[in-house]
Amino acid sequence: MRSVIDIVDLSVEEIDELCKTSLDIIANPAKYAESCKGKKLATLFYEPSTRTRLSFTAAMMELGGDVLGFAGASNSSASKGESFADTAKTVSCYADIIAMRTTQEGAALVASRAGSIPVINAGDGRHCHPTQTLADLLTIYREKGSFDNLTVGFCGDLKYGRTVHSLIAALSRYKNVKIVLISPKELMLPDYVKEDILEPNHMEYMETASLEEAMPMLDILYMTRVQRERFDDPEEYERLKNNYILTLEKLETAKKDMCILHPLPRVNEISVKVDDDPRACYFKQVLNGKYIRMALILKLLEEAKKNPKRVDAFAGKGYEFNKHVCNNPKCVTANEQELDQVFKTIDAEGHQRCVWCDIGEPQD
Ligand code: NCD
Repeated sequence: MRSVIDIVDLSVEEIDELCKTSLDIIANPAKYAESCKGKKLATLFYEPSTRTRLSFTAAMMELGGDVLGFAGASNSSASKGESFADTAKTVSCYADIIAMRTTQEGAALVASRAGSIPVINAGDGRHCHPTQTLADLLTIYREKGSFDNLTVGFCGDLKYGRTVHSLIAALSRYKNVKIVLISPKELMLPDYVKEDILEPNHMEYMETASLEEAMPMLDILYMTRVQRERFDDPEEYERLKNNYILTLEKLETAKKDMCILHPLPRVNEISVKVDDDPRACYFKQVLNGKYIRMALILKLLEEAKKNPKRVDAFAGKGYEFNKHVCNNPKCVTANEQELDQVFKTIDAEGHQRCVWCDIGEPQD
């Protein structure tokens, strides 16, 4: 049995296979209409969601399965102080697979180690969002035919945008991908993403504050919303929220076949007038998200049937237990009771990072 917490939990070959299954689902929906008959998906959403929760729900329905769950932490026992581990153990008694979204970074990993059914991370704080990345990848695959030799611009909130972090991790495994990071300095890509993904994979990247400068070189433009809910200072959000607005005029210097992606929701960062431009792919991305979530649910349920035992992903990794405390206040270790503090060494100098959230370092 396997969970998907981070996009790199799936190999490049598995991502190809998921894209192929998605195309087959699109071509032959009837073939899959009863594939998950008698199976239940639990959607545990502690944070707001429209697309991710509804697309998981629609995906399971189109596979002939059932869906149960909650939307909003206030509707669950989390509001009474229940841990993610206990919730996962409980839900394992009712369902066959979990999709969960939380504000705390590392919570899906906790659930996957506590429950006895596969867990899909549907977004954990500013950390990861692997199934949005699958939607992004299927869209790129359908629009561009390949993941190699692309120049991909990420624009907006690169600091808190978990979809950006996950897509960069996914793209790091393809050939000759160049990354252009477009943001104000306050919202630049965090150092840990550069140190853990861009640099070790020798990815070519540049940083700029100018969308105009970047536009002509891009094959893909990935727009993002400024993540208001993750700001500690509301005034800073107000100052930064209108930094980038994509308009038809700004698209004049773009390649004719550039593909515009956005994980959505959009606030104001893409003018509605852009929606009719043939390069706008963000609503196709929504639909692709449903198909590739169908493919993922199918894959994880098949694997769980063949091998119901949970594989301990921490075993044999040389992780250090309970020697330090994670300094990330949004890490799941800050709230979850009696959770081990687990650190991995990330470089030759012996720097360490929290295994749960990938963000925090040992507190002094
Ligand atoms: C994204 C998310 O939740 O991270 N939305 C989504 O799942 N499609 C992006 C966002 O909220 O800005």
